[in-house]
Amino acid sequence: MQVISTRAELQAWSDAERAAGRRVALVPTMGALHAGHLSLVETARAHADQVVVSIFVNPTQFNDPKDFEGYPRVMEDDLAACRAAGVDVVWTPQVEELYPDGAPVWVDVEEISEPLCGQNRPGHFRGVTTVVTKLFLAARPHVAVFGQKDWQQLAVIRRMTEALGFGIEILGGETVRESDGLALSSRNVHLGPVGRKQALRISESLSLAQQRIDDGERSHAVLCEAVIKKLGEATQARVDYAEFRDPTTLELAGENLQGPTLLAIALQFDADPDGQGAEVRLIDNRVLAVR
Ligand code: PAF
Repeated sequence: MQVISTRAELQAWSDAERAAGRRVALVPTMGALHAGHLSLVETARAHADQVVVSIFVNPTQFNDPKDFEGYPRVMEDDLAACRAAGVDVVWTPQVEELYPDGAPVWVDVEEISEPLCGQNRPGHFRGVTTVVTKLFLAARPHVAVFGQKDWQQLAVIRRMTEALGFGIEILGGETVRESDGLALSSRNVHLGPVGRKQALRISESLSLAQQRIDDGERSHAVLCEAVIKKLGEATQARVDYAEFRDPTTLELAGENLQGPTLLAIALQFDADPDGQGAEVRLIDNRVLAVR
């Protein structure tokens, strides 16, 4: 496995691979790799000859400087995980190289970036699309893989890739879950024991919505109420959003659900009452089958 730090070196490597007729896949990450990331690597491997993982904690997508500073940075563990997963190249760019003059040039995908996480994290998706553009231009992949857990991010990147004509195939990797249903996330470590138990209300709400639909319920309002009630059982948390939307355009679902519908949820947890854990915001989603 090669570890590359400069953009020029990565571009030269990728150009040589492309010239030799080999397909290159990129898995962009911010490190703190877990089984969810490694499953993205597996998907990448199935679609390409060479797999590049980028590890870069992108400052422009954090709204809160404390969140950026506190983001886990475990490069040695990440490199070991990539080596074990058979990654070909790890790219570890420096902030100065990706943002030489601060960040005066932005890539901004309007509308689809605005609801859901865009409401509470202004500028977040602009930071994501700007950095992903830079990663794409450096790695020049044929295919790039992003987790479906961050559904809105995936939808925004698909829209950007199409609109800017990158000619890169975007794949969504399935969400990996703990055995009790909690979606894997680098942020789960911040949950105290009480928060960890209550976090299960998220995946339970997703299943409940599917169950109610399977039982014949189609009313947007009724389904929304059932989901909010279930999420309300997480007394350590407050609901940021729980919304039914079109999986591609992210437009709000109509009065009665029709066809596949995204249920996207974000919950903001406090630390446990005894001080264990810390504040953390968790997101999850499911594309509900509505027949
Ligand atoms: O999903 C992430 O880890 C980040 O948002 C990404 C896509 C690597 C961009 O920094």
